[in-house]
Amino acid sequence: MLSILHRVAASAAVLCIATFFSATIFVELFGTTESIATLKSLIVWPGLFILVPSIALTGASGFALAKSRSGKLVQQKKKRMPFIAINGILVLIPCAVLLDHWASVSVFDTDFYMVQGVELLAGATNLILMGMNMIDGLRMRGRFRRPA
Ligand code: HEM
Repeated sequence: MLSILHRVAASAAVLCIATFFSATIFVELFGTTESIATLKSLIVWPGLFILVPSIALTGASGFALAKSRSGKLVQQKKKRMPFIAINGILVLIPCAVLLDHWASVSVFDTDFYMVQGVELLAGATNLILMGMNMIDGLRMRGRFRRPA
């Protein structure tokens, strides 16, 4: 049960970050200012309201599952999680809220693009850390083992 919760929450979190990241690059390159503003608003609502509980549930279920586990892979996963959470709370959320506010009043100045750059960098960092946690989780479940 806990394992299913962990898998679902982890998949939702990774999917959210990947979607926000690729959609941001896509609208910045090909979209209008209206489509940028719409995306910024969707990232805050419902985006963050799906992402934040997903990350919290992934961490909580992961640490609960880890109680009965030891080894290098689980230790590495434990070490990465605080960076994922801090990056989300201190960088991604404030950036998303600020960008949504500016886009809603059509302010697309240097500050907007600087914050946008920081958000993309933080998003890429979390995507890499989450991807590493996903690979280690799948390894722990023996999903990368070759059949004998
Ligand atoms: C965003 C971060 C994380 C992601 C994306 C993630 C992803 C995954 C995935 C895909 C699996 C394999 C599930 C399966 O095949 O059934 C897994 C398993 C596991 N994860 Fe995570 N995980 C994350 C964070 C954590 C944390 C912080 C811990 C705590 C140490 C943790 C502990 C575990 C454990 C113990 C398993 C094995 C579960 C079992 O054997 O049933 N995970 N994780």
